[in-house]
Amino acid sequence: VQRRPLVAANWKMNGTLATLRPLLAEVIAGLDDGAAEVALCPAFVYLAEVAAAVADSRIAVGAQNVSEYTYGAYTGEVSAAMLKDYNCRFVIVGHSERRNLYAETDAGVAARFRAAQAAGLTPILCVGETLAEREADATEAVVGRQLNAVLTAVDDFAGAVVAYEPVWAIGTGRTASPEQAQAVHAFIRGQLPAACRQQTRILYGGSVKADNAATLFAMEDIDGGLIGGASLDARAFLDICHAA
Ligand code: G3H
Repeated sequence: VQRRPLVAANWKMNGTLATLRPLLAEVIAGLDDGAAEVALCPAFVYLAEVAAAVADSRIAVGAQNVSEYTYGAYTGEVSAAMLKDYNCRFVIVGHSERRNLYAETDAGVAARFRAAQAAGLTPILCVGETLAEREADATEAVVGRQLNAVLTAVDDFAGAVVAYEPVWAIGTGRTASPEQAQAVHAFIRGQLPAACRQQTRILYGGSVKADNAATLFAMEDIDGGLIGGASLDARAFLDICHAA
């Protein structure tokens, strides 16, 4: 099965218009018409700016989170329908920073995933173990639990994207080796429903840089990347896109 690679930038809570506008312009101008799908996930407040800028390009827009509720008295939250208004195609759900710093639970992540799906957004479901969990040999147990919480809550997983992000590799400069990542990606693929197992894209995230992207993306079950730090540098991000 040919899976189209996806490279998604997660800008997290970085930059301001002063730095993001030139970054955006450089990415749009520098992107080739290669095979990989490319998405930018800015903070909510910059979605309109990014959506307008990429409208005539092949770049898609994504958000970094979404409410599990459709509408109502949820101060500070943003619904999936609101994201649709700004032409979002993707939304990251269950990023480890959301799970660990904002106490998002497996059940809460599953609810967000469902809300995204119901609105026609493509969820990018993040899973991954901490260093302590890896050292306790619990990687598959943790990743399996995170995945299963969503698989048991949805009718259909087809079309969704998974991102394997070992927490110990995020923002640390310590990348999982291609073999370490591939092993977990193969495990994840094996857990997916048979009907969409081969079609589902599984991205790797965690200190992907211009110089390690190609070897990671060459692994059989690695279908692109979710890029944090390196996505804030146009040249590095473009090199990563072109490696996919
Ligand atoms: O969502 C992106 C990941 O958390 C990876 O971040 O590339 O800065 O390690 P990083």
